[in-house]
Amino acid sequence: MSHSLQLFSTPEAPVSTPSAEVTALAARPTIIARQANVIYPAADKPVHALHDIDLTIRQGEFVSLIGPSGCGKTTLLRVIADLEPITSGQVLVNDVTPSEARQAGAYGYVFQAPALFPWRTVLANVMLPLQIQGRLPAEAEETAREQLARVGLSGFEGKYPWQLSGGMQQRVSIARALGFKPKILMMDEPFGALDEITRDHLNQQLQELWRAEQRTVVFVTHSIAEAVYLSTRIVVMSPRPGRIVRVIESTLPTERTLALRDSPEFMQLAHEVREALAEGHHE
Ligand SMILES: Nc1ncnc2c1ncn2[C@@H]1O[C@H](COP(=O)(O)OP(=O)(O)OP(=O)(O)O)[C@@H](O)[C@H]1O
Ligand SMILES: [Mg+2]
Repeated sequence: MSHSLQLFSTPEAPVSTPSAEVTALAARPTIIARQANVIYPAADKPVHALHDIDLTIRQGEFVSLIGPSGCGKTTLLRVIADLEPITSGQVLVNDVTPSEARQAGAYGYVFQAPALFPWRTVLANVMLPLQIQGRLPAEAEETAREQLARVGLSGFEGKYPWQLSGGMQQRVSIARALGFKPKILMMDEPFGALDEITRDHLNQQLQELWRAEQRTVVFVTHSIAEAVYLSTRIVVMSPRPGRIVRVIESTLPTERTLALRDSPEFMQLAHEVREALAEGHHE
């Protein structure tokens, strides 16, 4: 918490330099949730999956959602991406409803379990959203191959999803979401099924991609280290009912290397996230 206080109270902060203007532009809200609630009906007892969620995500931010199983992380992603209606409150994406934003092709979505078509090859799965967008076949194929190379799957283009391991399938689904360059990238535990080294590699790739292209990313993870390494802000959630317990602003530089994970600043942030998680757990 002290970090965000420091950020906002710096007396010598410039107000009218060009870089401040650029920052102001970049800070345009992309996703706004106000008093958003989701209650899933159930025969015995309805589940209050999201309770009074207030959250504004600005353009170009990398926001991670972290919290114990069942605290509503996937539900919040689904609400933003128009895959789940809210019971009450308001959600706006790019100043319009999630449904309108979806129709405008605003989202790329990496699901918690890779949702690939078993009858399409790896290449054809990655090409699908590009074809839906109306790209020429040759161009779609080139982009799909590039994205597959990026996630380390060159040589697997002709395989079918069921011929790949779970982690490889997840990487296909990441390649698919990145390919059509959505403005908002929603990622639900995309690296959960991967071994540590591959995960480090993809964390690094995602960080570089985010830095180069400044897309808005909403990312779900159970890993504190991953959240701290990648995020500009970390939203800590708690279950029953699912709610936000703390929002932690990152103090790390925009450009990050894996070595940064050994720095005192990184450890301090990880400590803050761990404390907030424990707090939510004991409430
Ligand atoms: N379609 C649904 N119908 C009824 N209840 C649901 C539905 N989807 C989720 N829930 C409930 O809503 C709550 C939040 O679920 P959600 O999947 O959002 O959690 P999560 O934080 O993503 O958990 P995990 O870390 O295990 O993926 C849970 O109690 C879950 O049982
Ligand atoms: Mg989930």
